[in-house]
Amino acid sequence: MLMFLFLLGLVPTTLTLDNGLALTPPMGWMTWQRFRRITDCEKYPRDCISEELIKRTADKLVEDGYLEAGYEYLIIDDCWSQKHRSSDGRLMPDRKRFKSGMKALADYIHSKGFKFGMYQNYSNVTCAGYPGIMDYEDIDIASFVEWEIDYLKLDACYIDPLKLDTAYPEFGRKLNASGRPIVFSCSWPAYQESYNIKKPNYTSIAETCNLWRVLGDIEDSWAVLSNVIDWYGHNQDRIAPNAGPGQWNDPDMEIWSRELADRSYAVAFISKKDYGAPYPEHNFTFTQMKLPEGKYKVRDLYLKENVPSFGPDGTFPVRINPTGVKFFKFIPKETENEVYNK
Ligand SMILES: *[C@@H]1O[C@H](CO)[C@@H](O)[C@H](O)[C@H]1NC(C)=O
Ligand SMILES: *[C@@H]1O[C@H](CO)[C@@H](O)[C@H](O)[C@H]1NC(C)=O
Ligand SMILES: *[C@@H]1O[C@H](CO)[C@@H](O)[C@H](O)[C@H]1NC(C)=O
Ligand SMILES: *[C@@H]1O[C@H](CO)[C@@H](O)[C@H](O)[C@H]1NC(C)=O
Repeated sequence: MLMFLFLLGLVPTTLTLDNGLALTPPMGWMTWQRFRRITDCEKYPRDCISEELIKRTADKLVEDGYLEAGYEYLIIDDCWSQKHRSSDGRLMPDRKRFKSGMKALADYIHSKGFKFGMYQNYSNVTCAGYPGIMDYEDIDIASFVEWEIDYLKLDACYIDPLKLDTAYPEFGRKLNASGRPIVFSCSWPAYQESYNIKKPNYTSIAETCNLWRVLGDIEDSWAVLSNVIDWYGHNQDRIAPNAGPGQWNDPDMEIWSRELADRSYAVAFISKKDYGAPYPEHNFTFTQMKLPEGKYKVRDLYLKENVPSFGPDGTFPVRINPTGVKFFKFIPKETENEVYNK
């Protein structure tokens, strides 16, 4: 089976968060997917959540060309703090694992050209049982500003998902009032979508967040990735209009969406077959691709070249490796010059 993802470059009509950030989907690296809640540095010195891990990762991302490719956010997920706040109520990074303190780590990360992201949980504890942000919003935001973070993932384990509708906007206002531009990543709709609690209010979400998780955690297996893709495929008509510069649906650490110039279309073809040879060529109609009929110039975004595009019967041929992706930009002929000149 082949599947499409349509990522139309829609400009949202509603009022949206305007902090000048995340004009393209933020890309980067985050500790959770691989290192989870490993904190025993004696037993697992290379895998524990620590400043050493973050610095080593920063170096590696530079060396392997990821930074240059745009993976600019380096984000510490859960398990970075002491289990208790200081006597004056401040969050403290774990004494052993973050010996030099968060500001020093932020300086290192910034010196390499990255932006620095942190994690917190809207509750009185984090998902892994560390102190949460509830009732300490102001003091924690002050710490984040002092540490010069650029990105905050605010999770929402263990809180009534209905309360998120007021909690996130309130926190967003405080974050804004801090004066430091910080990408605000929310888990708000994830908790409402996954438990079918309610239809998330994406208008309000886009007013508050730069990106938002819509689903549970991704795991590093094709099966889970494939489920995420399916969910996006099935719900795209509903959620795609919420996305645009500064505000993104977040599939959790795998980003394949892309901002588009007006009036052109991005279409990704994904083969969900996980064995054997590429499918034979499939020919797709405009209706199947949900594109308005018309003349298009088509560009392969991975190969960075124009493709001959449509066959004599007006269909678009695609041949694709198992588990592979092809990503095209369809540029209506009448807007071609404008778009190409951007
Ligand atoms: C969080 O709040 C619950 C009840 O409100 C309480 O039982 C629990 O001890 C609190 N946890 C922390 C870490 O403060
Ligand atoms: C705060 O919000 C205002 C109004 O949307 C915006 O212009 C400003 O850039 C925001 N500031 C920060 C630091 O997010
Ligand atoms: C959704 O949020 C918007 C903006 O905050 C608000 O105007 C609207 O009433 C909300 N819709 C619902 C159904 O609550
Ligand atoms: C797709 O169209 C081409 C001509 O453009 C044709 O040769 C080919 O057989 C078609 N493939 C299928 C699977 O129909």
